[in-house]
Amino acid sequence: MPLVKPTPENIAAAAEALRLGELVAFPTETVYGLGADATNSRAVARVFEAKGRPRFNPLIAHVADLASAERIAYFPPHAHKLAEAFWPGPLTLVLRRRPTGKISDFVTVGLETVAVRVPAHPVASALLAAAAIPIAAPSANRSGHVSPTLASHVYDDLGDLPAFILDGGPTAHGLESTILDASEPDVVQLRAGALDLEATERVLGTRIRRAAEAVDPATGERPIAPGQLASHYAPGAPLRLDATDLRPGEALLALGPDVPRHAGPTINLSPTGDLVEAGANLFAALRALDAAHPTAIAVMPIPDTGIGEAINDRLRRGAAPR
Ligand code: TXA
Ligand code: MG
Repeated sequence: MPLVKPTPENIAAAAEALRLGELVAFPTETVYGLGADATNSRAVARVFEAKGRPRFNPLIAHVADLASAERIAYFPPHAHKLAEAFWPGPLTLVLRRRPTGKISDFVTVGLETVAVRVPAHPVASALLAAAAIPIAAPSANRSGHVSPTLASHVYDDLGDLPAFILDGGPTAHGLESTILDASEPDVVQLRAGALDLEATERVLGTRIRRAAEAVDPATGERPIAPGQLASHYAPGAPLRLDATDLRPGEALLALGPDVPRHAGPTINLSPTGDLVEAGANLFAALRALDAAHPTAIAVMPIPDTGIGEAINDRLRRGAAPR
């Protein structure tokens, strides 16, 4: 059983396992990550195998601090400003990679850019410090499934594949990091996430374009976000979005004080309608409702403001045809 408490001894053993090319699942402030030595191609290949992840989908390199990130990627002034403001924290920056950066081509899948982030979680920070290597880590779920917000979710999806699963309890945000392509002065949001886009816009003093708005009208070229597959974050049961009524056999994913009457399994993401709380509860709620094997999970409408943008993004992908 790889699930262990994150004691100093276990973190030291997990760091050693990483250095030997093994996989270690660890908590971050967003979701649990499945870590491997980002400089070791064989270790990184194991991550793709364990998750059943398509080989064209690059990974995020996690580092201890901005100085370590600057050894991996070039930071133009606006990217530096974002890192100073939000690291450690739930922001991933896509930047041009430095040829001297030592990150395996398996992490970047051969792209000219690399995604980097400094997580804000004491266990992740301690692991990065002890291992003293960049850690490539996708969310620690089977590819296409809901991301894990509890150590037990990791075990349910991956079993004994990680040498260690460091149990840090429930993750604070419950949604993955916000991803910004900051390689050019015109910053583009590749993934809505735990960091509210408005906060980053205030720091830059400019509006940040969403990926959909950044499609080149002349060529039809899209910004590169290889992992943003249509079907993703999918529970076993189908999702029915913007539901205002209930059908027989359905489970209900509710939000706010006014919930339709329902005899079947029901989880309220936030009885007060607080979207930050709703985001933190989303993935665990989907897993729990799924376990009741409903005919479908009916989801009440979620406002598309603030963190609601990220919640709706995950729900739409969860509901997409598989
Ligand atoms: O919160 C998070 O970001 C979590 C925790 C563990 O840090 N990690 C996470 O990783 O969500 P993953 O692999 O599930 O999602 C990473 C996303 C993918 O959509 C991938 O395509 C994108 O980042 N990505 C990675 N490198 C990229 C690059 N060079 N250019 C564009 N997108 C990139
Ligand atoms: Mg993922």
